[in-house]
Amino acid sequence: MLEVLCVTGGRTLEGRVRVAGAKNAALPLLFATLLSDQPCVLENVPDLEDIAVTLRLLRSLGAQTEYKSNRVEIRTETIRGTLAPYGLVKALRASFWVLGPLLARAGEAQVSLPGGDAIGTRPVDLHLQGLARLGADIQMKHGVVCATAPGGLRGATIDLGFPSVGATHNILMAAVLAKGETVLHGVAREPEVTELASLLTAMGAKISGAGTDTIQVLGVESLGGATHAVLGDRIEAATYPLTGAVTGGRVQVSGIPAEALHSSLHLLENLGCQVHRGENEVEVVGPNRLRATDFETEPYPGLATDVQPLFMAALTGADGRSVVRENVFENRFGHVAEYRRFGARIAIDGRLATIDGVDLLSAAPVEGGDIRAAAGLVLMGLMAEGVTQVRELHHLDRGYDGMVEKLKELGAKVSRIPAFEEKEVVFGC
Ligand code: UD1
Repeated sequence: MLEVLCVTGGRTLEGRVRVAGAKNAALPLLFATLLSDQPCVLENVPDLEDIAVTLRLLRSLGAQTEYKSNRVEIRTETIRGTLAPYGLVKALRASFWVLGPLLARAGEAQVSLPGGDAIGTRPVDLHLQGLARLGADIQMKHGVVCATAPGGLRGATIDLGFPSVGATHNILMAAVLAKGETVLHGVAREPEVTELASLLTAMGAKISGAGTDTIQVLGVESLGGATHAVLGDRIEAATYPLTGAVTGGRVQVSGIPAEALHSSLHLLENLGCQVHRGENEVEVVGPNRLRATDFETEPYPGLATDVQPLFMAALTGADGRSVVRENVFENRFGHVAEYRRFGARIAIDGRLATIDGVDLLSAAPVEGGDIRAAAGLVLMGLMAEGVTQVRELHHLDRGYDGMVEKLKELGAKVSRIPAFEEKEVVFGC
């Protein structure tokens, strides 16, 4: 049923939430299970639409999956198909990461090109160049990448050129079953890559250097099964403290070590928040009004592009002018037009956004274009005067496990209502 999220602004959020497992870590782990004919168990897997789509894709390839209470068991004794169709890859770009493991396990794969989306053109050239260096023959037919490696993949030295997270996942998963040694230079250093290497190692792969910009892999004949718990979601873990920060409240998040949030916490301090770092939790206390500050996004360990729409939302109500530079995606300011509906003052010039904080934001009907843009709209709604209606909730359902319940725990007045019950709120000028 089509729903709308109603957010009443002006409340101070306080309390504690526990973060779910990281979606972006769970997805490559799910694809990695295809590399073995032995069962794998993943724990702390968030209950999200993206996970459901991935499990559907794995089942279409012959896997048996059982998901219960954030635990998923996957059996891939046999691979029945090697095709990832357009519908599934379009619904979830990360489906493209099935290419590397399928190729390594079955010697062939046909995966639809994902195409661009709301945040950029998002090419996959680095994935394909890397897999070709491992010996794959890659042809493009009818919008589908057709890859074969009849004689098996063989190790190679590969320089990625840009530390793409997805290309690192895809090539690493292929390399673990390639003959001989692979050295990957210029790879992504994100915790999700370290997590993938950790599962693969538990399955019997020989990998060193994950978390640095060079990874070495010594190919093995086969991999076994493993059990692994997914790490906490660092993007979700930045979102809830921001709900406290923008409302002058105090929010604790648990289930994630403070160092995983280093850049976000540093930025929260620059905004004037007090940050208390615990062993497996953090507490953020918001000031009466946030202060303007500049920031830029970068590959890890820099500030994640995924938190840019969230911090930009916070800056729309901050005291003074801020400049934001988006370095990772060329077109990740799609949320700005929606933020302006609240009265936000934002000017865009290429990769730069200049935000002049305003004293008062006013609630509006809005819709998100991607997961983090939708979460940014929720933050805007918490700050604004009146009731904000956020549409296109499927974006939030892709990336935030139990967001409404968690916001309610923090004292927010939020509810999901069927779209047909939605009353047009008329704002006069
Ligand atoms: C992943 C994350 C996403 C995050 C992004 C960057 C998941 C499911 N998604 O996406 O939330 O915002 O990392 O941290 O984990 N690029 C190329 N050629 C390629 C591949 C990438 O030019 O072959 C470019 C992209 O267009 C983009 C940049 O590299 O400008 C970063 O993309 P990448 O790191 O690959 O992002 P994803 O893995 O798709």
